[in-house]
Amino acid sequence: MLVVNQGEKVKIKVKVNGVLYERYVSPRMLLVDFLREELGLTGTKVGCDTTTCGACTILLNGKSVKSCTIFAVQADGAEITTIEGLSVDSKLHPIQEAFKDNFALQCGFCTSGMIMQTYFLLKENPNPTEEEVRDGLHGNICRCTGYQNIVKAVLDASKRLRT
Ligand code: FES
Ligand code: FES
Repeated sequence: MLVVNQGEKVKIKVKVNGVLYERYVSPRMLLVDFLREELGLTGTKVGCDTTTCGACTILLNGKSVKSCTIFAVQADGAEITTIEGLSVDSKLHPIQEAFKDNFALQCGFCTSGMIMQTYFLLKENPNPTEEEVRDGLHGNICRCTGYQNIVKAVLDASKRLRT
């Protein structure tokens, strides 16, 4: 078990979107705050801060996680992908295109978490049914859209990624 004196910071190394970072962090710092405040990756949002809404979803070593649920120190040595890591050469990722084309967002606050969860869902299951999409996104809350267009966007993205 890691023992740290009060006020002491801990060195961590993480690879985020392909870039290696070394930083000293408070042991109590949440991963989402590390990404936003230390690395300036503010595409990852904080909605509830209590593992409920999914706005903070990222990929940690290839698995989708709610980054408000873990401490930055627990990510030491990990590979992380955030929403900023999906587009290549300023070109939107096909999932981002599908969300845009299907009007799957209104305020956009949930969108980066939805897209990261979709990325994971489609990696695990490239051709999901509507029911599987709804099930795969059940940990991500949207207060605006009613979900219909989000589900349409995910099904559309699955087609785009398979052709
Ligand atoms: S901010 Fe992490 S689940 Fe809501
Ligand atoms: S688009 Fe506003 S919360 Fe989902």
